[in-house]
Amino acid sequence: MEKIQCFPTIWKVKLGTAERLTPHHFFGGQENERLKNMAQQTFPFAEDALSAKSTLQGFLITLPLGEDEKLYGLGLQLQSFVQNGKRKRLRTNADATNDTGDAHAPVPFYVSTKGYGILVDTSRCVEFDCGATRRVYSESNESKEKEIAIRTESLYNEEKRGSQVSIFIRGVEGAEIYIFAGESIKQVVESYNLFSGGGVLPPIWGLGNLYRSYGPADQGQVERLLEDIQKEEMPFSMLGLEPGWHSHAYSCSFKWDSNRFPDPERLVRKVKRAGLELNLWEQAYVHKTADFYEELRSYSADYEVWEGLVPDFALPEARKLYGKRQGELIDTGIGAVKLDECDGSDFTGGWFFPDFSQFPSGMDGEQAKNLFGAMVQRTIQQQFEQRNLRTYSQVRAGWSYGAPMSFVLYSDLYDHGQFVRGILNAGFSGLLWSPEVRQSGSGEEFIRRLQTVVFSPLSIINAWMVPNPPWKQYDIDHNAQGILLENNALQDQCRELLQLRNAFVPYLYEAYARYERYGTPPFRALVLDYPDDSQVHTIDDAYMMGDNLLVAPILNEGTGRSVYLPDGDWYDFWSGTRYIGKQHIVVETTRIPLFVREGTILPLASNQSITKDTIFDLEIRIYGREPRKTYLIEDDWISLNYKNGEQNRYELAVVDGELNIPRMERYLIHSQSRIY
Ligand code: GAL
Repeated sequence: MEKIQCFPTIWKVKLGTAERLTPHHFFGGQENERLKNMAQQTFPFAEDALSAKSTLQGFLITLPLGEDEKLYGLGLQLQSFVQNGKRKRLRTNADATNDTGDAHAPVPFYVSTKGYGILVDTSRCVEFDCGATRRVYSESNESKEKEIAIRTESLYNEEKRGSQVSIFIRGVEGAEIYIFAGESIKQVVESYNLFSGGGVLPPIWGLGNLYRSYGPADQGQVERLLEDIQKEEMPFSMLGLEPGWHSHAYSCSFKWDSNRFPDPERLVRKVKRAGLELNLWEQAYVHKTADFYEELRSYSADYEVWEGLVPDFALPEARKLYGKRQGELIDTGIGAVKLDECDGSDFTGGWFFPDFSQFPSGMDGEQAKNLFGAMVQRTIQQQFEQRNLRTYSQVRAGWSYGAPMSFVLYSDLYDHGQFVRGILNAGFSGLLWSPEVRQSGSGEEFIRRLQTVVFSPLSIINAWMVPNPPWKQYDIDHNAQGILLENNALQDQCRELLQLRNAFVPYLYEAYARYERYGTPPFRALVLDYPDDSQVHTIDDAYMMGDNLLVAPILNEGTGRSVYLPDGDWYDFWSGTRYIGKQHIVVETTRIPLFVREGTILPLASNQSITKDTIFDLEIRIYGREPRKTYLIEDDWISLNYKNGEQNRYELAVVDGELNIPRMERYLIHSQSRIY
């Protein structure tokens, strides 16, 4: 074992002989001034508590796990929150329906409430046993009397007391791991994000609302939809086209279907003129009708997916060919993509390359499967960056080093509780997740889901399955038959929620600017902000959006839920009622329960649309008697010039009872109010 300190908070530990084609090889090695300047931490546990050995099948690493610590992370785990007592085999997969480690974006990284994190640098389907099983000799508590379980649930739910985390990677002879230490669990996550290259700052329109249109819609239908959206004042900033824009999908031709879309240039113009950005659906499987198919052949895997080539994105030649077509689309005015099905599914219909595939770069199918999403994301993002543009796109797969990727994850799954848990879990691992809303069983369910959606990293209505907007009919069959709701009540509620999202964009932009700079996740579990309050350690249905807003969605039909407010005073966003923290309260509301932290200066915008030209019209709400200063971030909203310092950070503070208002170009303050 060789231990090397890389940064004051990070050590690399070399164990055995590591493989070459790891995530660090492809994505790591980012220089970061902030990481260099962090305060020196001590190594988080005794060195001899870490051990490793080769076994017949692979390589085993063991790390300590105390009874008093909780583990979180492992990427986008939709089925569970606290990872103690779990054994998972991380595998990128679209059917993440069991708590086995299959996930759209599993990440071999976990964090502990003790203030450390472990990143395993592997692209293999790695197994994490988080104290799920106990070694025979290492336990001293055998004598503790146990009650005999008389129901199967209690038998299987019995608290597990393994005192180790075991990490097992098949077919290898070693691995490198990175150990992060911090003053708090939040600082550990920040270090991991900075180590990955820092968080992402979306273009301003990416923080508005996205509508994805009906899969088979043609140009006429999309243009009519756009007109309706404008006429009916539905505040969207992005419009998505589904597979139907391609002349062939699945796999993809990356060419417009000239029957359905006879004049794409006109469509792009119209969308832009309406103040929206266009987002195109795609898969990274290349159909033989794509112009670059023949050239791509020798830079692709030896197995197809949906009769398309699977580019080897580890090779510059493949990235160049694929990237060139992406670049051409960007040059016609496309603002974002939805990168679908790069997660694959091995055993349902076999629509993924098998683990035994070979890629010309030397990767096998297992490595390529786990790195595929990240590699395509990077290929696309680089095309935007070469044009000095930001994007805020969608993707269905990711792995480690995800923080700098301007992509938000989504799924075909649809459990509301899991969708909320996804927001929290993504925040431990440098990921962003969007719990999209599609069809619903009732108007109430539609609104409850939309409430969560507008308080998530990407606010999206995905209507790919229905010809009419779901606010005109939430039921999928009725919608398809054109049986629409009799009044506009649902649409009015929907509009109001989309506007509420827009109101929070200046606040969110500041939170993302901090993500970009300091690695602080803009959406995160309460345990990251209140690690010492054991009450929050298991809360997976409420979360922080930025530093000052606690969001507690109502998951089911009905109007009530219990909310735990951590230490400090909190204000109900809707009524202004003040609550003392460290207690559970019960709320009854048709709105989404939102609580503002004491001392917050909260900017709220009244803008109808969020575009590259937006100047925000703000109301400032000041909560509590001793407000902390807060910031508004201003730049050109869309380019990378902010990386060269072309960005203003304006301070808002209350001095001698008065709010100081700096001179700003893109923010106007029209009113202020105080809430005690
Ligand atoms: C799915 C995707 C959906 C939709 C659909 C179109 O894989 O998750 O959101 O895009 O494909 O065929």
